[in-house]
Amino acid sequence: MPTTLLTGSASGIGAACRAALQAQGHHVIGVDLKNADICGDLSTTAGRQAIVAQALELTQGKLDGLVLCAGLGAQVNPPSKAVSVNYFGVVDLLDGLLPSLQKGSQSAAVVVSSVASTQLPWDKNPLAEALAAGDEARAGAIVDGAGERGGNLAYAGSKNAVTVAVRQRAKAWGQAGVRLNTVAPGAVETPLLQASLKDPRYAEAIKNFVAPLGRRADPAEIAATVAFLMGGQASFVHGTQLFVDGGMDAMVRPTQF
Ligand code: NAI
Repeated sequence: MPTTLLTGSASGIGAACRAALQAQGHHVIGVDLKNADICGDLSTTAGRQAIVAQALELTQGKLDGLVLCAGLGAQVNPPSKAVSVNYFGVVDLLDGLLPSLQKGSQSAAVVVSSVASTQLPWDKNPLAEALAAGDEARAGAIVDGAGERGGNLAYAGSKNAVTVAVRQRAKAWGQAGVRLNTVAPGAVETPLLQASLKDPRYAEAIKNFVAPLGRRADPAEIAATVAFLMGGQASFVHGTQLFVDGGMDAMVRPTQF
């Protein structure tokens, strides 16, 4: 039975991923702020180190799967918290757990990014330099000092950077024998989306963000894609971003892929 660590397991897409992975026979170790096997805070360096340490202890340093789903939306205050969870909460766990994944069997990892990852291309991402340097304080200061734009910048900037971070690891992870991909959901009916809808700064834009399929996704539809990427049927899928967005990316950027 593959053992898979899953962040954000208590809610929304993460909770759906837990169910989908369990249905595929995974033993899932959930990580979240509360209601999880490992309760911890991905927004701080100490919290991330404690989560990695507990994961190593629980699994005796051998892991077959990793799904990094925990994330915060644009409405969060201060916006730097979203950068910490969405970016550092992913790369620190990827790097901290690669040795365990190498010891696993047919190991794979999936990061839940977002269709928002394409809003700010890397060469126009104001967070790119700070994040590439691992400078959490500098990236946080940029978004916290950006006024009204801070929330969007934190979300789109961190999601762009996390997709880039996955792609940049494709060579090393492939050579290590561990597949690594991202999924990029469009709008999904979850507590995160509801919180953004309640914020007057974002409500209108979200209501107008209608995919060609004409509806929002159910979390189970994202989880099914994550489960596919984690399984043997995706054995040659590596370093890619799979959009699960009802056609949104194709509509907005038909000539770029
Ligand atoms: P959600 O709010 O339902 O679930 C997120 C989970 O992450 C929660 O259980 C929360 O406690 C956990 N989390 C947040 N901060 C944490 C921290 N500091 N330490 C540990 N755990 C923490 O949200 P949802 O919608 O299920 O989001 C999951 C992922 O999907 C996020 O990365 C989000 O950016 C992404 N996404 C969501 C979309 C949507 O429309 N709902 C669209 C595109 C991407």
